[in-house]
Amino acid sequence: MPQIFSSNANGIARFVLWGALFAGMLIALGGTALLRSNFLTGVGEAVAQPVPFSHKHHVGQLGIDCRYCHDGVETSSAAGLPATEVCMTCHSQLFTDAAMLAPVRASLASGKPLEWRRVNSVPDFVFFNHSIHVAKGVACETCHGEVDDVPLTTRAEPLSMEWCLGCHRDPEPNLRPPQDVFLMHWKPPEDIGQIRKSLISVLDIHPETMTDCYVCHR
Ligand code: HEC
Ligand code: HEC
Ligand code: HEC
Ligand code: HEC
Ligand code: HEC
Repeated sequence: MPQIFSSNANGIARFVLWGALFAGMLIALGGTALLRSNFLTGVGEAVAQPVPFSHKHHVGQLGIDCRYCHDGVETSSAAGLPATEVCMTCHSQLFTDAAMLAPVRASLASGKPLEWRRVNSVPDFVFFNHSIHVAKGVACETCHGEVDDVPLTTRAEPLSMEWCLGCHRDPEPNLRPPQDVFLMHWKPPEDIGQIRKSLISVLDIHPETMTDCYVCHR
């Protein structure tokens, strides 16, 4: 076979090929790093809200129960956000002139709900349900962090598939008695290992099927 390319051209071709491969690898690695970074997952970032509502104030200091404002959390897939009337049970008497609360008063007067911006969300093709997690002893704190410590709510976890699966593969170390799921800064009792073992059977939890695709994509 006659030689069409000089040995030099061969060298160049090899250089270009390796270069392309290397660049491809860099892009893939960089892309994965970006996808996993807090920049894209939004972990720890405060979201500007129409009213600077503070869990630190209302939960940490006043001690209001999660269910007072997120009343869907035990009964439906969504936890839900409070209606303006819920704020007004207190703020029609308290801080009635505060400028910070002007959007709340305007919302009550106009009947237009406050537009809270979402902090946590999963894509539409993912099925998620709050009530089942709460009933099976998975705490708010486990997925949302210690919301009572921060003035503005931030996302505590990436909510990626890998993150969900991390617990679904082995839920036991993440469980607590269901009556304690609303508590923040919960301290496990000494015999928690024993309690968790019994919760798996008492609450009828089935780790062997929890990673089936159908569970979250239906
Ligand atoms: C007095 C009412 C009130 C109480 C009590 C309350 N919250 Fe909230 N919560 C809100 C409001 C209003 C928002 C929307 C603004 C924001 O994101 O901070 C919110 C947002 C959140 C979000 C983020 C929602 C999103 O967009 O993803 C989480 C998580 C949350 N609350 C958890 C809790 C937990 C856990 C408790 C109990 C320990 C609790 N909240 C108690 C009013 C309340
Ligand atoms: C159970 C009573 C109660 C409910 C319900 C309630 N608040 Fe409050 N809120 C208070 C009290 C008490 C304070 C004052 C806290 C302080 O300064 O010590 C306060 C303070 C505030 C402040 C200003 C102080 C700060 O820095 O947090 C804002 C803004 C506010 N509330 C928004 C809301 C919104 C929005 C809702 C509805 C989602 C709501 N509150 C529901 C009792 C309540
Ligand atoms: C197993 C993890 C997990 C647990 C436990 C959990 N959440 Fe969530 N939460 C999520 C995810 C995921 C979303 C986003 C859901 C979506 O996009 O549909 C979310 C969204 C929310 C929202 C935004 C509004 C909504 O209904 O989607 C609020 C408020 C909230 N959670 C409050 C709570 C409270 C209060 C508790 C405890 C009683 C709790 N969550 C327990 C994972 C969890
Ligand atoms: C910290 C642990 C934990 C995390 C994190 C978690 N889950 Fe779960 N999940 C559970 C447990 C425990 C059950 C109950 C399983 C059972 O009853 O067999 C469950 C059940 C479910 C179910 C109901 C399954 C059924 O039988 O109908 C769905 C859907 C689900 N999880 C989706 C998700 C998604 C989506 C995420 C991530 C956004 C997630 N979960 C994150 C612990 C977790
Ligand atoms: C415990 C819940 C859960 C289970 C089980 C699960 N997924 Fe997912 N999956 C998710 C979540 C949450 C996302 C969205 C991730 C995001 O937004 O970053 C996702 C995203 C995806 C995507 C979109 C691409 C991506 O990686 O973001 C594909 C494809 C997918 N899942 C396939 C599967 C297959 C196949 C299985 C079974 C082997 C499976 N999933 C089981 C929760 C789950």
